[in-house]
Amino acid sequence: MPYTYPRCKKCGRPAFYRVRYARLWLCPKHFVEFFERRVKRAIDNYKLVRGVKRVLVAVSGGKDSVAALYVLNKFKEIYGYELMGVTIDLGIPEYSEKSIRIARSLYERFGVDYYIVKLSDYGFTLGDVQVWRRVKRIRRPICSFCGIVKRYLLNKTALEVGADVVATGHNLDDLVKFVATDYYNGRIEELVKLGLKTPASNGFAGRIRPLGLVSGKEILYYVNTLGLPYVHMKCPYSPRQTNIQDRILEKINDLELEYPGFKIGFVKSFLHHLKPIMAKSYSVEKKGIYRCSICGMPTSNSDRVCGFCKLRMRVSETISA
Ligand code: AMP
Ligand code: FES
Ligand code: ZN
Ligand code: ZN
Repeated sequence: MPYTYPRCKKCGRPAFYRVRYARLWLCPKHFVEFFERRVKRAIDNYKLVRGVKRVLVAVSGGKDSVAALYVLNKFKEIYGYELMGVTIDLGIPEYSEKSIRIARSLYERFGVDYYIVKLSDYGFTLGDVQVWRRVKRIRRPICSFCGIVKRYLLNKTALEVGADVVATGHNLDDLVKFVATDYYNGRIEELVKLGLKTPASNGFAGRIRPLGLVSGKEILYYVNTLGLPYVHMKCPYSPRQTNIQDRILEKINDLELEYPGFKIGFVKSFLHHLKPIMAKSYSVEKKGIYRCSICGMPTSNSDRVCGFCKLRMRVSETISA
């Protein structure tokens, strides 16, 4: 029998993408519509922009945050928020330059006001953190220091520009990884913060993850269909061996193949059933919050020096020695 090419369920034109869990073949146009409808539904169902006047979208130039910038810009009239962008120049050779070039070109194309925040203005770069780790033989992965830097600078920028929330490009695969590994490691404190929305509290700006229920693969097809540029290069500091988080995601992706929709079910089950119970007995609000004696930003460290200032001092000592 001759092979019949799949047709789009909506218009009958040749299809190019199969949404397995929805048993749906779609053409490029209807895939884009489907994707945006799903993101909009997540924004509505999880009330991501309710009461929000200004959204600061964090764009690294990777496919996820490029997609986040594009959809948030597309939806700004519907929801009536003002959109601004921020990109952190971490000072990673080649990678940071590419990421800034792409982010800047998209902000300008969409007419979005933006900030490029340079880590070097604080006296060090991520390259210096790498040197410091080697000199001091620090085993903790660079990504965890990078996380401290990004969280700090995104929060600081949001507070400075009066944004109600920072939007990131975290996707379904990220959430699956975080939920599974925090559960595995018993990190309840981290688990209760996971989800599509973290409300502002204790001097920290709110966080939203509007792409939290769409997979990395769907995002890839979305940006490619729209012809949006993004950084293809991997961060040169990312570890070569796969870590436990990636291994867990690989296994869950196997389950997704066998049971389409498994990943969404896994995250939704956590958000709707487990998280509310956990949040009752463990709330971040109950933890002490202090002001950093050096920079004045909020910190949960009782010695009143935030993680960013500690890192900055340690790295600066080494690189200036
Ligand atoms: P990552 O931690 O690299 O997986 O990135 C998660 C999200 O953080 C991205 O989707 C962006 O929204 C944001 N992000 C990461 N790196 C940067 C950066 N250099 N500047 C601005 N936002 C970033
Ligand atoms: Fe942070 Fe690579 S982007 S370590
Ligand atoms: Zn179609
Ligand atoms: Zn500080």
